[in-house]
Amino acid sequence: MDAKFYFKAILLFIPCSLVFYWMTLYDDPTKYSPTAEPEAIQPGAAHFWALHDFSYILTPRNKCQILVTSYSGEVMARSALRRAYPIDELLRLGIWRVFLLAKPKRGVVDASQSSLVDENRRFGDLLQGDFDESYRNLTYKHAMGLKWASTSCPSAQYVMKMDDDIAVDLYRVTETIVGYGSNTTFDLMGYVFDKLRPIRLKANKWYVTTHEYNREVYPKFVSGWFYVTKPEVAKLLVENALSLPYFWIDDVFLTGIAAELINARFLDVGRLFSTYPEVLDCCVSKNVVCEYLVAPSSGDFDLQIRFQRHSHNCKYSGSCSSLAPDLNISQICVAKKVLPKLHRGFPSFAQIQLR
Ligand SMILES: *[C@@H]1O[C@H](CO)[C@@H](O)[C@H](O)[C@H]1NC(C)=O
Ligand SMILES: *[C@@H]1O[C@H](CO)[C@@H](O)[C@H](O)[C@H]1NC(C)=O
Ligand SMILES: *[C@@H]1O[C@H](CO)[C@@H](O)[C@H](O)[C@H]1NC(C)=O
Repeated sequence: MDAKFYFKAILLFIPCSLVFYWMTLYDDPTKYSPTAEPEAIQPGAAHFWALHDFSYILTPRNKCQILVTSYSGEVMARSALRRAYPIDELLRLGIWRVFLLAKPKRGVVDASQSSLVDENRRFGDLLQGDFDESYRNLTYKHAMGLKWASTSCPSAQYVMKMDDDIAVDLYRVTETIVGYGSNTTFDLMGYVFDKLRPIRLKANKWYVTTHEYNREVYPKFVSGWFYVTKPEVAKLLVENALSLPYFWIDDVFLTGIAAELINARFLDVGRLFSTYPEVLDCCVSKNVVCEYLVAPSSGDFDLQIRFQRHSHNCKYSGSCSSLAPDLNISQICVAKKVLPKLHRGFPSFAQIQLR
């Protein structure tokens, strides 16, 4: 096998694994459930806003603009993001940050309500809805964030939504948005999934019944890892979601199924996303301008801080260099890591990219 073959295999592998990784994203029973028992499936017919009147338990002093879905027990992730992008730094970029939380489940020891109250007293950046933490409730959490953004800062130029385990270069993200803003109009900017099929295998954790979703493919949607929208779009998405049956895969539901109703315009910036945290580390260690702006931290919260420092240096001190034009980051680092494991085949993909 020559290098070209491997290289092609990698090119093919990256989009496939992004989809696969996306499927495994919330597949962490210890995170969203005290027991490993599968959770009851929300009846597909239940109206989305069955929790219509849910109230907020905690509200932030901050307004909006970057919404971060966060599991209430994951204090470490929030603290890493606060260290990576402290409030002053965000304000320089014209951004306020709000973490979206639900209620810790009874009997879960990783976060108590009183510690969350303290956390919010200290940082003022928690928005907590009156529903239980559960990945089947993520759609509520996500919708709560969009609703908050559209009501608390309706005149903001844009709103970003991300997960708490994503490392991101906010300097270049904001540049990119501003750059695109003047050229094109978009409603949703992010990693666009097109014609993705629901998983119909019962044994799979991502099994979706035809009762929950009965079409062959999902409408176009953006990955909930990180995407950019606008307050008026956020408002329309939530309003339109009200008329739909609840669907628990939050990004599909809000940025796909609800977005379809408003004929949302998508701007695909998937080339700026990597599934491999190692890629960002590679940019940091080689001190080069990164071709990727967003990647999962996969539990390595410190990566968020390392990558922010690096991004900051590249932006303000100009001390990092560009790669030679005929090279890209995938060639200098990731290929080495992933290649020897490729032959193990599909089932090992998740491990390769996660650790
Ligand atoms: C979602 O939250 C509601 C309200 O707290 C709760 O009744 C329900 O059990 C939660 N769903 C899951 C799957 O935990
Ligand atoms: C915006 O348009 C200008 C002029 O057509 C072009 O040079 C620039 O690259 C565009 N920016 C983006 C982000 O597309
Ligand atoms: C990396 O560079 C090669 C050419 O050297 C190019 O064909 C390939 O598309 C690039 N890969 C990415 C992910 O940009």
